[in-house]
Amino acid sequence: MRRTRIFGTGKAVPAKVVTNRDLEKFVDTSDPWITLRTGIKERRILEEGRTTSDLAAEAGRAALLAAGLPASSLDAIIVCTVTPDSPLPACAVHVQQKLGATCPAFDLAAACAGFIYGLSVADGLCRTGNFQRVLVIGVEVLSRAMIDWSDRNTCVLFGDGAGAVVVGPSPVDDERGILSTHLFADGTQAGALRVPAGGVALPTSPATVAERQHFVKMNGKGVFAHAVRNIARASLTAIEKNGFAPEDVTWVIAHQANLRILEAVAEKTRLPMAKFYLNIHKYGNTSSASIPIALDEAVRDGTVKPGDLLLMSALGAGFSWGSALVRW
Ligand code: ACO
Repeated sequence: MRRTRIFGTGKAVPAKVVTNRDLEKFVDTSDPWITLRTGIKERRILEEGRTTSDLAAEAGRAALLAAGLPASSLDAIIVCTVTPDSPLPACAVHVQQKLGATCPAFDLAAACAGFIYGLSVADGLCRTGNFQRVLVIGVEVLSRAMIDWSDRNTCVLFGDGAGAVVVGPSPVDDERGILSTHLFADGTQAGALRVPAGGVALPTSPATVAERQHFVKMNGKGVFAHAVRNIARASLTAIEKNGFAPEDVTWVIAHQANLRILEAVAEKTRLPMAKFYLNIHKYGNTSSASIPIALDEAVRDGTVKPGDLLLMSALGAGFSWGSALVRW
């Protein structure tokens, strides 16, 4: 069976930069605290007048250009996001319209693991033989949809952005492409990272707005511990299931949530930190966008070369987590 190849990557980040020093002006925090605890120096925030689907379409256009393909060639668009333009319809249909595509388009919600889930679904679609070109976009505008800018426990961590890949069956039988994907979830931990209101369990009301129930609530230490354990396990699963050892991996393109999480993962897996591609200092945690943004930057700056073995791994709210191994 032919492998699913990544034919092009793209990204879109807002122009507006908000530094740690900027945050100091309106929330009780400091640049040294944020830098030491997370590795984040600045993040991008989406300008007024633009939406999630604008950012997603920009990243999608860049990935299509890199792949040398028109939007009309797409057989499906998967938009991985928990911050769509609106609850209905799917963000993906706006992206389809903005790209000028006519294919099926749907959203996938797996929080920070969204891109790994989306890549896995796209791989499955391609392996059926019915889909030749699938655009997978990870995009979040957390700044506008979920962040409580008065809560220093969470607001310093996140940023907005989008990353995209175009995938499809390899034209020939070769080593390159997605070797395997591995998905996991544990709903017993759903309370660790959540937005309580705005859904069926707690519909929007004046009281939920007044109580700030529409913003993200997080048990930081609990998330940290699960992220380290499960990203490490999922990473080793992807490596071992393919008969490799950690030293065979060329680059780790992991979810950029926190530098300390990645350092702990490196220690647990014996994957050296030098193999982790890092851009968290520039963008913060962009949730489902972080892996495709990092991948696009690593490809465009020449870090990732043909034949490299790439390990992708992420954990997010749910908890949902997963990994993918790709021969570039
Ligand atoms: N600035 C200054 N002080 C702060 C800030 C801030 N932004 N935030 C919290 N503090 C304070 C706390 O109030 C606390 O003060 P206290 O001791 O007087 O009560 C003190 O700093 C220590 O707080 P801790 O919560 O113990 O700090 P910790 O070392 O656990 O770091 C952090 C907090 C950075 C949130 C960490 O737990 C973490 O990274 N967790 C993972 C969360 C994450 O990545 N979430 C993203 C979504 S899920 C994912 O992507 C994997």
